[in-house]
Amino acid sequence: VNHLLGIKYLQKEDVELIFKTADHFKEVINRPIKKVPSLQDITIANLFFENSTRTRLSFELAEKRLSADVVNFSAASSSVKKGETLIDTVNNILSMKVDMVVMRHPNPGAGIFLSRHVNSSIINAGDGAHEHPTQALLDSYSIRERLGEVAGKKVVIVGDILHSRVALSNIFALKLQGAEVKVCGPKTLLPKHIESLGVTVETDLTKALQWCDVANMLRVQNERMDISYFPSTREYAQQFQLNKKKLEQLDREIVIMHPGPINRGVELTSDVADAENAIILDQVQNGVAVRMAVIYLLASGISR
Ligand code: CP
Repeated sequence: VNHLLGIKYLQKEDVELIFKTADHFKEVINRPIKKVPSLQDITIANLFFENSTRTRLSFELAEKRLSADVVNFSAASSSVKKGETLIDTVNNILSMKVDMVVMRHPNPGAGIFLSRHVNSSIINAGDGAHEHPTQALLDSYSIRERLGEVAGKKVVIVGDILHSRVALSNIFALKLQGAEVKVCGPKTLLPKHIESLGVTVETDLTKALQWCDVANMLRVQNERMDISYFPSTREYAQQFQLNKKKLEQLDREIVIMHPGPINRGVELTSDVADAENAIILDQVQNGVAVRMAVIYLLASGISR
């Protein structure tokens, strides 16, 4: 059975194949008729044990545009609330002839755990502070679209690196494709030994911006931290907010990214979030084609 549990488990060739396949699907979903019949005998369950707007709707749209049958599960309104385990929940859903599971879960490693206990393809749609592989793929795809290629580009990931699955998956994906990666944030939100992943560290946002081609601005994940970790929101914004003033100090334009949801006025000011060189909605749009590619390629490995 094939899975997408993390970027850590992919080769460069896998990413290239996903992007080539996504190029095709991007062309398809820009046609007046956005659907292809590729997966009309496949059923996919989207299991969300944690809140989501983009990832959940993007997977559902990707599945529907591939003509798969789709069922959606939200833990908050399910029998998980009566004490049913993750494995029992998923095995009950699979017994209804479901072929593939997309899962978001607050616990790091939840997708890996599930893949060892159930007989289904699993796509990790974000597992706690561990990985968010499809986000990193759509982020790299969007850099490739805007700048021509990822190899050789200088990308700074700014903010709460410690609690961010987006940061970890992006580091793996960008390094795999030959980009240079820097992380920038308050010391309290940078993991110890992060340099061992082949990235450099900067705590001065102005210096990091002067260095980079692309700035990927992350949200501070208040929901994953002890309050004592955090500089106050005001202190954070003073030092790490990307605003017009900081951009005007640069001698060239940089590409601005954000995985969403944005806390406007904290990590980004509204004028910067909505600027022409901010590709935040392109990232969201590309997410559908990239997820179609991932689902299509994994489904090709299902024996019917
Ligand atoms: N980027 C992202 O994962 O957004 P959601 O939490 O809304 O899915």
